[in-house]
Amino acid sequence: MEDSKNPDFIEQFYLDCGFATRVLHAGEHVGQPDTRSHANAIFQTSTFTFHDAQEGADIFAGKQPGYVYTRLGNPTVRLLEAKMNALEGAAFKLAHPERRLSSIAFSSGMAAVSSTLMAACSTGDTVLLGDVVYGATEHLCSNVLRRMGVGTVEVDMSNLELFEAAMRANPKAKVVFLETPTNPTLSIADIRAISRIAKSINPEVLVVVDNTFATPFLQRPLELGADVVLHSTTKYICGHGVVVGGIVTSPNDRFKDALYMVVKDVGASPSPFDAWLVNLGLKTLPLRMTRHCENAMAIARLLEEHPKVARVFYPGLPSFPQHALAKRQMSDFGGVVSFELKGGLEAGRKLMDAIHMWTLAVSLGSVDSLIQHPASMTHACVPREKREKAGISDGLVRLSVGVEDIADLQRTLLEALAKV
Ligand SMILES: Cc1ncc(COP(=O)(O)O)c(C=O)c1O
Repeated sequence: MEDSKNPDFIEQFYLDCGFATRVLHAGEHVGQPDTRSHANAIFQTSTFTFHDAQEGADIFAGKQPGYVYTRLGNPTVRLLEAKMNALEGAAFKLAHPERRLSSIAFSSGMAAVSSTLMAACSTGDTVLLGDVVYGATEHLCSNVLRRMGVGTVEVDMSNLELFEAAMRANPKAKVVFLETPTNPTLSIADIRAISRIAKSINPEVLVVVDNTFATPFLQRPLELGADVVLHSTTKYICGHGVVVGGIVTSPNDRFKDALYMVVKDVGASPSPFDAWLVNLGLKTLPLRMTRHCENAMAIARLLEEHPKVARVFYPGLPSFPQHALAKRQMSDFGGVVSFELKGGLEAGRKLMDAIHMWTLAVSLGSVDSLIQHPASMTHACVPREKREKAGISDGLVRLSVGVEDIADLQRTLLEALAKV
C-alpha cells in the first residue's frame, strides 16, 4: 500500500513489464492524494501552499521535496513524465539502475525542440541537422538560432558516408538532430550507426532524435545509442487531436539540468489539464498504433498499385529504399503515408478538395484520418530549393492514416482518385 504512492517504486516496479502494461500503470497515482479515486486528479493550480516560512524556504532550496509553482513542476505533469520515462527508457533503466532518467513535458513539440537546442548550445556552437525535418524545426535553426550565433549544417542523415563527412568537418558539433521517419518523406536514419559515428568523433556530442512519427511503441532511440529523445505529444502520444504538447526524455545529467533551467526560465511548461489529456490518450497508444500501422500499410499498397500515382513513400513497402533498415530499427512502420500524383500539384489539390471523410488539416497521429499538402502547408516555411532537394515536391500529398474501418478508407480514397 505504502509503495503504491512512492514514485521510485512505481517507476521501478513496471520497468520489466510489457509495453501495454507500462502504458497503463507506470506513473499512475504518483503524487496523488489518497482519495481512492480510480482516475488521477488534475491539479489545475498555478501555485502551491507552504505550512510555514521554513518549509517554503526548504522546498525552494530543494532541501525538501514539494511543489512550488506550476511553471516549475506540477503533480499532473509529473505523472505524464514518469510514464514517459517508463516507455522510452525502461530498457535503459534496467541496464543502468544507478543512472537517473528524466522526462520534461512542454507546452508544444516546438517548445521541446527549441528548449532542447537552447539547453545544448551556446553562441558559436554548431548543430548537425537532418535535411528533412519538420518545417518549424528547420526554420528555428536557420533563423532564430542563427541570429543567436548557433550555426546549422544540414546533412542527409539517411546517408552514413555523408553524415560521417559532415561530422569530421564539424568535429566540435554540439548536437546531431534527426527525425526518423522524417516528416514528410519518411526517410529513415540508422540511429545506432549515427550515434556510434558521432561519438567516435566527438564523445561529448548529443544525439537527439525526434521520435514523433514512430512513438516509443515502434522505436526507442535511447536503446539504440541516442542521448535525447523528444516528441510532439500533439500527435500519436495524445492521439486524439485535442492537445498541443511536447516531451523530452534523457539520461544525460548535464543536459537534463540545462534543460530544466531553460523550461523554468523560458516558461514552456504545459498546463496540467493538457498533461492529463495526454496521459489519458497515451493509455491506448499500443492499440491505436497497431491499427494505424495496419491501415497505413493497406493504403500504401492501394496507392502503389494505382495508375494515377507516381510514387509512394512508406517505409513498410518492400519497394521503399530503406525498408530493410526500417524493419531492423522499428517494430512496425507507422501511420503516415506520403505520395505523389502523376498530375503534380493540380492533381493533388483536386484530390484534397474531392475526398470525403479524410479531413483536410495539418497535424497527424489523430485517431481519424487527415490529408494535407506539405509544400503549401507544414513545410511552406522551408525555401523551395531546400524542399525540392529533400524530396518535398509541389505534388507531394501527406496522409495521416487513422483507425477507421479500412474498407471505408480505401473506398473514399479510390472515389477521390477517380475524380482527379
Ligand atoms: C516531427 C515533428 N516534430 C515536431 C513538431 C512540432 O510539434 P508541435 O506542433 O506540437 O509544436 C511536429 C509538428 O507537426 C512534427 O511533425
